[in-house]
Amino acid sequence: MKSQFAQDVLEGLTSEQKRLSSKYFYDDIGSKIFQEIMAMPEYYLTDSEFEIFDFQAKQIIEAVAFNTHFNLIELGAGDGAKTARLIAHLIELNIDFTYVPIDISQKANDILVEKMKEQFPSLTIKPKTGDYFKLLAEEQKEKDPSFLLFIGGNIGNYSESDAIDLLKLFYTNMKIGDKLLVGVDLKKNPLIIHQAYFDPHGITKRFNLNLLARINKELGANFQLDYFDFYCYYNPLTGDLKSFIVSLKEQSIFIKALDKTVELGWGELIWTELSKKYDLNEFSSLSSKAGFTHIHNFLDCKHYFSDILLEKK
Ligand code: AVJ
Repeated sequence: MKSQFAQDVLEGLTSEQKRLSSKYFYDDIGSKIFQEIMAMPEYYLTDSEFEIFDFQAKQIIEAVAFNTHFNLIELGAGDGAKTARLIAHLIELNIDFTYVPIDISQKANDILVEKMKEQFPSLTIKPKTGDYFKLLAEEQKEKDPSFLLFIGGNIGNYSESDAIDLLKLFYTNMKIGDKLLVGVDLKKNPLIIHQAYFDPHGITKRFNLNLLARINKELGANFQLDYFDFYCYYNPLTGDLKSFIVSLKEQSIFIKALDKTVELGWGELIWTELSKKYDLNEFSSLSSKAGFTHIHNFLDCKHYFSDILLEKK
C-alpha cells in the first residue's frame, strides 16, 4: 500500500506539467524553515496579522458577539504563533472559551499544547489530531457556539473554486450563528508581494527544495539539490503567486518507493505552490458563494492583509 504522499508524488511527477503539492512542505525541517520565512522582514503576512490581533482583538471579539462559553477552533494550527497573540488578548479580556487546535500532525499538536500551557497556565485546551472535517463535524455536536480560525493566509494555497469548496465544507460543519475568521493576503504593489516570496536570503528556495530532500528521505529518491533552483512570479491581474522548482540540467531521478524513474529536462519546472491574493470585494463574493454572511474586514494599517469575519446565518 502506497502512502498518500507516495501516490501524490507519483501522480505529480508523471503529469505533463509536473507538480508537487505545497501541503507536503511541512515535515519537521520544512516547518522550521517556514518559521524562518515568517521571521523575514520581507514576509509581511505574519507581521500584518500580528498587528491586527494586537490592536483589534477587542473589536474582533465584540464582532463575534458570543455571550456564553465558546470553542475557539483553529484549523491547521501549526506552531500557533499567531493564535497565541489572539489568545493573550482574549485572556486579558476575561473571555470564557476553550481552545481547540486541530492539526494533521500529532507532533506539531503536542509541541503546541506544551507551549500554550506554559505561556497561558489558565487556558483550557482540547487538542484534536487528524482530518479537519471529521473532527469539525464531531465538535459541532456540542451545543456551545464555535469561533473557527483559518488564519495565516492558508486559503491562498487553494484555487478560487477550491477555496469555495473548502469554505462550503466549513459552512456545512458549522451551526447557525457560528463565526469563521479567515486570514486573506490582499492584492497590493506587486513588488512587495514578489519580494516576500522571491526573498534575497534564499530561505523560500530552501523551503521549496526541502520537498525534494523529503522525497529522498521518505521515498528513497536521489534528487541532488544542487541541480535545482527556485523561481516564482506574481501576476497582478489574477492575484496568482506561483512557485516552482527548476531543473538545472537534463537528469533522471530514481524513486525507489515508487519503483519509478522520472526524466527532467533542462529548465523544466515543477509547480509547487499557489499563494493567491485577493481584493476585498473578490473575497466577499467568494465567501457568499459558499453561503457565508460577511461581518467585517479587520485590516492592518498598511492594508496588506485582512482577517475577514464571516457568519453562518
Ligand atoms: C503558509 C500558505 C500562507 O503562501 O504565503 C510562504 C506559505 N510559501 N512562503 C504562503 C509560503 C512561501 C504561505 N502560507
